[in-house]
Amino acid sequence: MSDDIKKGLLGIVVDETEISKVMPEINSLTYRGYAAQDLCARCKFEEVAYLILNKELPNKKQLKQFEKEETKERVLSKTLINVLKQMPKKSHPMDVARTVVSVMGLEDKETKDNSSEANLRKAMRIFAKTPVALAAFYRLRKGKKIIPSKKKLTFAENFFHMCFGKVPNKEIVKAFDVSLILYAEHSFNVSTFTARTITSSLSDIHGAITGAIASLKGPLHGGANEEVMHMMKKIKKPENALKWINKALDNKDVIMGFGHRVYKSGDSRVPTMREYFGKVSKIKKDKVFEKIYEIVEKVMIKRKNIHPNVDYPTGPTYHLMGFDTDFFTPIFVISRITGWSAHIMEQHAANKLIRPLASYKGSKHRKVMQLNHR
Ligand code: SDX
Repeated sequence: MSDDIKKGLLGIVVDETEISKVMPEINSLTYRGYAAQDLCARCKFEEVAYLILNKELPNKKQLKQFEKEETKERVLSKTLINVLKQMPKKSHPMDVARTVVSVMGLEDKETKDNSSEANLRKAMRIFAKTPVALAAFYRLRKGKKIIPSKKKLTFAENFFHMCFGKVPNKEIVKAFDVSLILYAEHSFNVSTFTARTITSSLSDIHGAITGAIASLKGPLHGGANEEVMHMMKKIKKPENALKWINKALDNKDVIMGFGHRVYKSGDSRVPTMREYFGKVSKIKKDKVFEKIYEIVEKVMIKRKNIHPNVDYPTGPTYHLMGFDTDFFTPIFVISRITGWSAHIMEQHAANKLIRPLASYKGSKHRKVMQLNHR
């Protein structure tokens, strides 16, 4: 392969962004200049969502207005509820997420308007409605009644309420909120780049987010948080972990939740999420997954010098919170809608069609023979 080819766009800078950056000088992911871990310590997810979408942290009045708009949109149309009811119960919830955002695009009065004002309004509707639709599917596939959203609850509390019919204690909600803050945005990752590529043809936000969800589903990207849990369930007991991971590495298996295209000595979101994973394990009085976590991590660093990414601690944390494993990546979706939307608006504001080149290695020119001569 020619040296000019940068397979996987490795190391290629394709555009500018103001939304986020991993700042090496503070060893942290930053959203619009604020360190993600500081945001986790001082803000709730709604404030961070506002920051990502509106470029600044909100004051009290702005936050109140934002929450008013978000809670008002926590409803689904009858059509969308019917679509959810018709979906095969065994559908992967990521496919459900992709489909419901697509259906929302059919219903939205502003689908064709790509102005930044309309995009912001549409982003808010997608942001508010997608968790409602996912929670509804969570219930429907178990043969349970849909639980309507409650305006008085925060975004995180409401998701627990709609899935389980109750809100857990404050520390669990905080751990969930922190995971949403950490998942909200990460520059030109695969799904965001997908959203920007779709947007670059001047397509609309519903289409771009639908494509982004399909991209996030893959196990090399957001789907890894589910794969981490499948791995931990396979390992089962801490006593099995050392043998399991050594055998997997001897087989040259890819270990889910480890490695990253950008971070080479550790994902800056991991220490914060690891801390909250520990807190949830303590509250749930279940340290099995924490022990497995530590053994696998130690061997990965010792044998491969490969560190965990954010999906490694979120997987078992969501499991301990009671979510079904196939709902882990959909939780990533309900957070990342903020980052995708900001990138879609940024792309629209300074658009250039994304259209790279490929080096051709197929047949030389050939003559087309008539069918009876082939
Ligand atoms: C996310 O980009 C983002 O920002 C994404 C994300 C976000 O917030 O949007 O951070 C979220 O997607 C996190 C990543 C989740 N994916 C996984 O956990 C899947 C497991 N990880 C990998 O497959 C891998 O590390 C990637 C896909 C994440 C990164 O792949 P790269 O940059 O293309 O690197 P690579 O696969 O070519 O690996 C380089 C080397 C290889 O060894 P050699 O062939 O050079 O000997 O490192 C090895 C790989 O085999 N390697 C691993 C490994 N990750 C890399 N070996 C075993 N297990 C792993 N997890």
